[in-house]
Amino acid sequence: MADYSSNLDRIDHLRRAHTLGREDMRILLESMTDPDEEYLYKQAREVCDHYYHKAVYLRGLIEFSSYCRNDCYYCGLRRSNRNAQRYRLGSDEIFACADQGYELGFRTIVLQSGEDLHYSDDDLCRIVSGIKERHPDCAVTLSVGEKSRESYQRYFDAGADRYLLRQETSSPEHYRHLHPPGLTIGNRKRCLNDLKDIGYQVGCGIMVGSPGQTIEDILEDLYYMSEFKPHMVGIGPFIPHRDTPFAHEKSGEVKDTLHLLAVIRLMLPMVLLPATTALGTIDPLGREKGILAGANVVMPNLSPSGVRDKYLLYDGKICTGDEAAECRHCMEHRISGIGYEVQVSRGDWCGMENGGLKR
Ligand code: SAM
Ligand code: SF4
Ligand code: FES
Repeated sequence: MADYSSNLDRIDHLRRAHTLGREDMRILLESMTDPDEEYLYKQAREVCDHYYHKAVYLRGLIEFSSYCRNDCYYCGLRRSNRNAQRYRLGSDEIFACADQGYELGFRTIVLQSGEDLHYSDDDLCRIVSGIKERHPDCAVTLSVGEKSRESYQRYFDAGADRYLLRQETSSPEHYRHLHPPGLTIGNRKRCLNDLKDIGYQVGCGIMVGSPGQTIEDILEDLYYMSEFKPHMVGIGPFIPHRDTPFAHEKSGEVKDTLHLLAVIRLMLPMVLLPATTALGTIDPLGREKGILAGANVVMPNLSPSGVRDKYLLYDGKICTGDEAAECRHCMEHRISGIGYEVQVSRGDWCGMENGGLKR
């Protein structure tokens, strides 16, 4: 039973209580009018500005390997994609990217890859500790997929601060629709629990509009995130890749993505919320719109320009022909253009310091 008669009341309740009953959440997401939407974004921005004061954090993303042992149906890096161009960066190349990122003002380096067993735990620990030794004032974020608790502990002990692992979908049935047998939501959640328990700042998240996704699945994801309380949430639209089983599926919608960004900001007021490259791919102003709907992080690409067009998760990915410095300055320009300010500090989750902002 719905408790409210208008979406404005639902949004007010969500802002106040950081939650909303399932039926009201469903109605809000399914019947959003233009004025509702404006109001929702305004509330989300106010909450974000309260905690982060118009700061947008920059993370420098190094995509260090396009090899993957998995076969997720949606992703261009899946192992069955014979047309994918594969590359690996050696540790010296990764350090050179991190050094360049540091020069450009990045104080968080995100290391992302397919699940590539070529890099042993020792290798990953050496890469993490190498970056921390060179740049002790930088945070290192890993996004290298599902590992054992022991491996996660080793990377943490080597100095990794944060970990991004989207749950992709909380519904077991939908998870099976997106992944081959062997990959389970149970293990994905086990990983997320271990990461949090070890002490990482943890990011989960979903693709919006992924094939087969229903409103019920989205509600499950919202309640999962509300309970799990991640420090970061990565959500962006699904975009098809021509060499995957989902080549002919539709992309996720810009509006749906913006609605969810704003709802997540109200549910988890202090969360670090990227305006993703995928959002910037389906709409040239997608990242700016994301920030105006409550996002507060952007992740410009730091990968060497020679490999960028090989890390193709989906078709049409932006920034594949640009240099790191170009993306850095482009983002600064875009962000100041909408009245926000790029922050070059580490940008930790602001609840780390007794609810205050850690700069
Ligand atoms: N292999 C690691 C993993 O899966 O967690 C990290 C890299 S993976 C490429 C990072 C994210 O890319 C995934 O969590 C997924 O949500 C996103 N992604 C993959 N294919 C996508 C697509 N076709 N459209 C939008 N996002 C996609
Ligand atoms: Fe591999 Fe990650 Fe792509 Fe799945 S989403 S195929 S694990 S890179
Ligand atoms: Fe890469 Fe604009 S962010 S060119």
